[in-house]
This record gives sequence, structure tokens and C-alpha cells, in this order.
Amino acid sequence: MGTQPNDLVDPYEPFGWLAGEDIPRLLFNPPPPGGPGEGLAALSGGKGNWIVTHYEDIDRVYTDNEHFSNKGAAEFQRVIGETFRSIPLGVDPPDHAKYRHFLMPHFGPARLNRMDGDIRAVVTEMIDEFADKGEVDVAWDFGRVYPVRIFMGLMGFPPAMFEQFLDWEWDILHSYSFEKMGAALRGVLEFLREFIHEKEAQPDDHLVSAIVHGRINGEPLTDEEKIGIVWFLWLGGLDTVAATISQMFRRMALQSEIQDELRAHPDRIQTAVEEFLRTQPILSSTRSATKDFEWHGLQIKQGDSFQCFTPGGNFDPARFDDPRTFDMTRKPNRHMTFIAGVHLCLGASLARRELRILLDEWFKRIPTFRVKPGADTSVFPGLLSIRNLPLVWDVEQGDPGMPLQLT
Ligand code: HEM
Repeated sequence: MGTQPNDLVDPYEPFGWLAGEDIPRLLFNPPPPGGPGEGLAALSGGKGNWIVTHYEDIDRVYTDNEHFSNKGAAEFQRVIGETFRSIPLGVDPPDHAKYRHFLMPHFGPARLNRMDGDIRAVVTEMIDEFADKGEVDVAWDFGRVYPVRIFMGLMGFPPAMFEQFLDWEWDILHSYSFEKMGAALRGVLEFLREFIHEKEAQPDDHLVSAIVHGRINGEPLTDEEKIGIVWFLWLGGLDTVAATISQMFRRMALQSEIQDELRAHPDRIQTAVEEFLRTQPILSSTRSATKDFEWHGLQIKQGDSFQCFTPGGNFDPARFDDPRTFDMTRKPNRHMTFIAGVHLCLGASLARRELRILLDEWFKRIPTFRVKPGADTSVFPGLLSIRNLPLVWDVEQGDPGMPLQLT
């Protein structure tokens, strides 16, 4: 189903066959023949799942909280016997709303406006380091680092934990080994619990401190709520923007007319960011049925699992004209990359802002760029994305000074 790395300009092209009116509304993805195996498949019970392919149906799964639940989502911690919930993602309405209201001010426009200067300072400092060199590994040395620096600053995490965080996250999400997952989970949860205790004793003006000293409906948070929130923010905020950035630059390097258009029309950056997000849906989310019911002539059973196939939704011709074309002026562009409904990504505005500021500052400093000749451009169409992507550009020679006097 297109989940293998490829080197196409549009790496989501192999998913193409799953969008459109000829595709069945629900497809059943059977469990693997050898049983659930280790890691994530085992966590979900390995029963197989329904693939939801059309925009309209995906929208229903996310917004119909009577039939579809997200209870227990992203609870990787169960692998090591932890029982706390991942908050807010794994909590259903109506309980979900209180956590969302609690966190919202930290991700809303007023807070983000105050972060604008810091985001711009990080971007410009980082770009200035390599602008004159004519070369950067935009995935490893830039995309991987920039959003994580912003996120760690927002949370108040010590910068020295940077590499360790990314290693833990890799082992939890991508190692597909119980052993590695377990070790990483133990490491990160021990760190986060200690960090929470530290902030309880010595508050500062960052987000973890605000969470541990916060109140919901006038009550202080329980220990389970504190770790549930801090843990899920850690998981959700770490490498999602990084994957998006690497893919965005890969696309621009391979399709240089996108660069030309953005240079000629910087006012299109905002809508271009939406189109990058639409055409690069790094996550597909799941839900489970809360009860037995019939849908599209099929009998759904309570507990059945549904995978909402974001590329299907984002490339659905019933929703988007000419869906496979990158059109940076597309409007409206209500894609599913941040999903819909109550669990709509809490960090969406922050992610958008990071991407917009990045493009804004990048085009002021870096001329037309391309992939370094000989570099591997294969990419995984999803969160794993691309590990290394060397880009090159021609460096303009500075003012050569006064011409030499030969006489
Ligand atoms: C381009 C970057 C990002 C993408 C594509 C993305 C995608 C998503 C998606 C698809 C969901 C819904 C998952 C589901 O319902 O199953 C989600 C939820 C969430 N995301 Fe993001 N995310 C991004 C960046 C961020 C950042 C930077 C943060 C935090 C700093 C963040 C925090 C969250 C939180 C807290 C939720 C749960 C919201 C809720 O349950 O109410 N995300 N994100």
C-alpha cells in the first residue's frame, strides 16, 4: 500500500489508487498470517482493521464520537505495564474537553505571537550558519533540529537531552522491537517523572511547569494526569514537524518551479504551507467502534479498529480538484493532515507557524537549491520520512573590493 520508501518526486503517488470513486468505501486489512508479532501490531491486538479511504468517511470517523472512540490511543506505555492514559489523545469526550481547555492557552494565538521572535531567531541563526557554505544536510542537520529546539524551549526541557530524546523516540515508534521499545519507554518515563518533580519544587515559566502547577475545574492535577499530559506532548511534539520539513525541502529541490513561484510570490507562503501539509500526510490515525452498527452495507462490531487513511482523504477527487497537483494557491484546503473533530492536532498552529517562518527566512537567504548530485533521494512516505538529504546551491562571491591597479 505504498508504505515502502521510494524516490518519486511525489512519494505519496503509490497511495494514489486508494483515492477516488471506484475504490470501496471500506477495505478490510487482515491480520498478519504469523500472528500479531512484536511491538505496535501486538499492542493493537493484531485483529486486522478497516481502512477508511474517502474524505467524507474519514471525517465521519473523527467527528462521530458516538460510534468511534480514541480511548487508549498512543498508550505505548502499556508495553512496560504502565496504566496511565495518554492525555489528551487517548481520552474521549466529554472528559477530553477539560484537558483540551486546560492546554489550549499554551498553543493559542496569543502564546504563539509571543513565541514568534524566538522561532525567527532560531531559524535565522541556524540558516546563517550554513548559507555561505552552499550546502546543508537539510534533513539531519536542519529539519531534525529546528522544530525540536523550539519544542524543547516551549516545554523547558534541557537542550542537552536533545539526542537522547530523539533516540528514545525512534526506538518507541520505529524499532518494532519490544526490547528496544521497553528500554526507551523506561528511560523517557523515568526522565519525565524526575523532571516533573523538579518543576514541582522549582517552578519556571515553561509549559511543563505550568502543567504541574495547573488546575482543572479548580483541582490540582493527579500524578497520573501530569505524566499523561507531559508524556503525550513529548511524543506528539518531537519529530512531526521535522518529518514535514524534510519532505517539504525534498519536494522543492526536485520540483524547482515551486521555489521559483515562492520567490516571485512570497505572499503565497501561507497557502503553500497548507499545500505541503496536504500533499505530505505523515500520519494516518485509528479509532475503534464503540458499538455494533451497519456502515456502507457492512456489519461493524464493537471494538473493530478503523484506520483513517489520510492520503486517501487528502487526495480524494470528490473533495479536491486535481488532487495530485501541487497547487500553492489552493483555497479552501481543508486537508486531514491534522485530522478533524475534537482531537484535531493541538500543535497545528505552532507547526504551521514554524513552517511559515522557515520558508520566509529561507528564501531571503538561500538561492535556488537542488539535491546534491549522487545523493539518495528515497523517502518513506510517512513519519519516518528521510534521514539525510544534502542540498546544494551556488554561493555568490562577496564584493571583490577594488580592482587591482596593473600600472
Ligand atoms: C506537522 C506537524 C504535525 C502533524 C502532522 C501532527 C499530526 C497530528 C495528528 C494527525 C493528530 C491526531 C491524532 C489522532 O487523533 O489520532 C495530532 C494530535 C495532537 N498533536 Fe499533532 N501534529 C504535528 C505537530 C504537533 C506539535 C508540534 C505538537 C506539540 C507541540 C503536537 C501536539 C499534538 C497533541 C497534543 C495532539 C492531541 C490533541 C487531542 O487529542 O486533543 N502536534 N497531531
